[in-house]
Amino acid sequence: MGSCKVQNDKQTKSVLVHGPIIVGAGPSGLAVSACLSQQGLPSLILERSDCLASLWKHRTYDRLKLHLPKQFCELPLFGFPENFPKYPTKRQFIAYIESYASHFKIQPKFKQAVQTALFDHASGFWRVQTQDSEYISKWLVVATGENAEPVFPDVVGLDKFNGHVLHTSKYKSGSEFKNQKVLVIGCGNSGMEVSLDLCRHNAIPHMVARNSVHVLPREIFGFSTFGIAMALLRWFPLRLVDKILLLMANITLGNTDQLGLRRPKTGPIQLKNITGKTPVLDVGALSQIKSGKIKVVGGVKEITKNGARFTDGQEKEIDAIILATGYKSNVPTWLKECDFFTKDGMPKTPFPNGWKGENGLYTVGFTRRGLQGTALDADKIAQDISEQWRKIKDLNNNNNNNNYTSNSPSYPT
Ligand SMILES: Cc1cc2nc3c(=O)[nH]c(=O)nc-3n(C[C@H](O)[C@H](O)[C@H](O)COP(=O)(O)OP(=O)(O)OC[C@H]3O[C@@H](n4cnc5c(N)ncnc54)[C@H](O)[C@@H]3O)c2cc1C
Ligand SMILES: NC(=O)c1ccc[n+]([C@@H]2O[C@H](COP(=O)([O-])OP(=O)(O)OC[C@H]3O[C@@H](n4cnc5c(N)ncnc54)[C@H](OP(=O)(O)O)[C@@H]3O)[C@@H](O)[C@H]2O)c1
Repeated sequence: MGSCKVQNDKQTKSVLVHGPIIVGAGPSGLAVSACLSQQGLPSLILERSDCLASLWKHRTYDRLKLHLPKQFCELPLFGFPENFPKYPTKRQFIAYIESYASHFKIQPKFKQAVQTALFDHASGFWRVQTQDSEYISKWLVVATGENAEPVFPDVVGLDKFNGHVLHTSKYKSGSEFKNQKVLVIGCGNSGMEVSLDLCRHNAIPHMVARNSVHVLPREIFGFSTFGIAMALLRWFPLRLVDKILLLMANITLGNTDQLGLRRPKTGPIQLKNITGKTPVLDVGALSQIKSGKIKVVGGVKEITKNGARFTDGQEKEIDAIILATGYKSNVPTWLKECDFFTKDGMPKTPFPNGWKGENGLYTVGFTRRGLQGTALDADKIAQDISEQWRKIKDLNNNNNNNNYTSNSPSYPT
């Protein structure tokens, strides 16, 4: 990464970045940087934490494994090692991310939390402010993730509860909850897996399912359900694929409605496309629900000092509460004067066209399609920026008039 430091009006350090600024050193930011370097372009990644893939390192539980077979979770240009299992563990995934970064010699700037990013119409450059520096570039790639911040729900009485309350982003293992009655609020993939983990550590989980949810087996007859869905979608319309998936899910899992997990009326893929709600891929929680070790409960009406009251009138004593209530994007908190994103921090333009905004703005990893979506975005972004880069370079060569000074942002030379 080439850059040039100058002092700005606010007396903070200003850095003119030679190449795009990428915000976030998760899989998406690294994938864009790798694709750019493949095209011969430099880039600078700014990361708020002190490591690569901080979500995976610091905000996920120990038993986490990829839900999808590894071929659907590879980043561009550099695959998983052959000896990795079909569903790599969290540690294996982190090791892969680290070797990915070192393969492409990517060195993010850590502990740089982006506080604001603003397009300066007068100069035609992005000004990106962290706690101690301002970074300036012609291109800004937003790679801060769909899961940047935990969602803390408003539950009546939660503040009065005497026991331990934590979000799944802080949960590591059920070992600290042995013999405790634990209320798990939320029945997405996190809620289901944390409940299963609690069971395995002899805790007594009660999982809140306030709404309908699609639970699908991770595999059907030895083939990944996701892989089957992808293959079917090549040949059949989405509604038919949803029907086939639900038929197969009913055969393998039985009727989940009877377990308190009502199925939505809309099919799993269609629902995902419309609302972004991910179906749960079952890795064992369902059999614990069937055996009564995980108890499914309805919506919470109120939390009391020692327990919870539910919307169906039941009351239960509880020792601890785990909020498996999901995550949200944080883009609206730092990307200013930009109407490309919704108030929820997702691109307004739906997939597959949400990767490119105006004035050199790009987004990666906001497709609601996990790591597969990241790989698609990263490649398109690198192609697009490298075309512009070459045009500027040609223009500079033609004019033979490179007016670079310490105050002007850097152009490719
Ligand atoms: C428990 C869990 C399990 C998952 N399992 C899978 C799976 O198996 N398969 C799959 O495809 N997807 C999975 N996902 C989805 C997952 O989010 C993505 O796969 C992947 O992590 C997305 O990468 P990303 O780089 O877009 O976002 P992230 O991994 O979230 O990385 C974003 C980075 O941006 C940084 N950042 C945020 N805000 C700022 C800021 N203002 N300034 C500077 N840096 C900032 C963050 O610190 C972070 O390092 C899972 C998610 C969770 C929560
Ligand atoms: N192994 C894996 O691959 C793996 C594991 C875990 C997570 N993930 C991924 O990580 C992402 C986040 O998953 P997640 O499970 O953490 O979040 P999620 O899918 O957003 O699910 C959040 C859950 O919390 C519930 N909820 C929210 N507010 C509530 C409230 N006030 N009261 C009761 N329930 C409430 C939601 O119910 P409603 O539906 O009613 O809103 C939903 O059941 C997803 O993409 C997921 O697939 C992957």
